[in-house]
Amino acid sequence: MPVLLNIGQLATCRADGGQREIHTVDAAALAWDGGTITWAGPAPALPAHLHEQETLDAGGRLVIPGLVDCHTHLAFAGWRADEFERRLRGESYLEIARAGGGIERTVRETRAASAEALRERATATLDAMACRGVTTVECKSGYGLDGETEIKLLEIYRTIANTHRQRLLTTFLAHAVPPEHRAHRAGYVDWLCRDLIPRIAREHLASFCDVFVEDGAFSIEEGKAILETGQRSGLRAKVHADQLSDSGGASLAARLGAVSADHLEHISPQGIAHLRQSGTVAVSLPIASAVLGQPPMPARSLIDAGVPVGVATDYNPGSAPSHDLPLALWLACTLQRMTPAEALKGATVVAARACGVEVEVGSLEAGKAADFALVDASDVLDWLYRFRPDGRIDTWAGGTQLTVTTLR
Ligand code: NIG
Ligand code: FE
Repeated sequence: MPVLLNIGQLATCRADGGQREIHTVDAAALAWDGGTITWAGPAPALPAHLHEQETLDAGGRLVIPGLVDCHTHLAFAGWRADEFERRLRGESYLEIARAGGGIERTVRETRAASAEALRERATATLDAMACRGVTTVECKSGYGLDGETEIKLLEIYRTIANTHRQRLLTTFLAHAVPPEHRAHRAGYVDWLCRDLIPRIAREHLASFCDVFVEDGAFSIEEGKAILETGQRSGLRAKVHADQLSDSGGASLAARLGAVSADHLEHISPQGIAHLRQSGTVAVSLPIASAVLGQPPMPARSLIDAGVPVGVATDYNPGSAPSHDLPLALWLACTLQRMTPAEALKGATVVAARACGVEVEVGSLEAGKAADFALVDASDVLDWLYRFRPDGRIDTWAGGTQLTVTTLR
């Protein structure tokens, strides 16, 4: 039963209280048994029986819960750097998409890639995420669009989940109508609802169903049909909502009791009121806002209205080619005026709620998974203020160390 001592600050990130309450403990200790935390609190209060145990020294560092990246498009082939430059020169995301770039281009490359190549790249990204403190990752399909490739992506996630020590949550994403079905969109939506989604649910290939509701992707009515089919099959709803325009996606998410509504750069005051009533988590993706030159989600208005705000990377080759969740936290502070504590709560217990695993992970409390990260900073404020991409982070999942640096 190892005990981690000499923790400068322990950010427990318990769920109770508002977004800014992360329930820190200075001069703390943390004990676990196997994969589960058995005790967390001020070191002087450590129970006597734990004094006899194997001890590890945190060196006065900050300890946070293992970070939860609750919105990623982890598996895809190819990159789209040229589109980054075209947007910087003035073309819009939708113009590039309509000219055959964007999602469609990644779909072509992903369909052509072998499962092995996709898996290798996804696992390398997960390893890189571990070095940034991430122990739980939500992974979406959506770069296949046909049955074969969507299933291929979801099966890759299942294989990785069984072999990797990070926790994976899987989402089927209805991302766009593929070009071969563009003339018959109704038939495509019908096929998703009658065939693909029930099959994915039957084969336990996903826990969530997500839809990109936007001009150029799916309408509100199509999104509703897809998400309701998912719910009838046992998949909880998530929505890519109000990213490029106020299309009513947040209100749809609220009406369906979705577990999260993500993006929300263009959410309306009415959308905010609906999310507050439904208890849906609003997931902010500030890397995507910055890359696409969008105004970020109005996180302050959402938090002030009482909506829990999660923060995630949106890792994908178009709008968010960085897997760095601490970078997203820093952007949540600098672009969205979230405090470091609010941002951290958004990538721990709130993010865990956005992917339905808040009972198991997201905070450092007895009974939860021993998933945590040692950060080279004295406290949460110091960490995100002096944001250092090269700062050392030692990450543990299920009571064992994922990253290579060894503790004394
Ligand atoms: O979450 N908004 C839709 N999907 C992605 C971008 C996909 C892409 O450009 O490849 C997102 O930002
Ligand atoms: Fe996304």
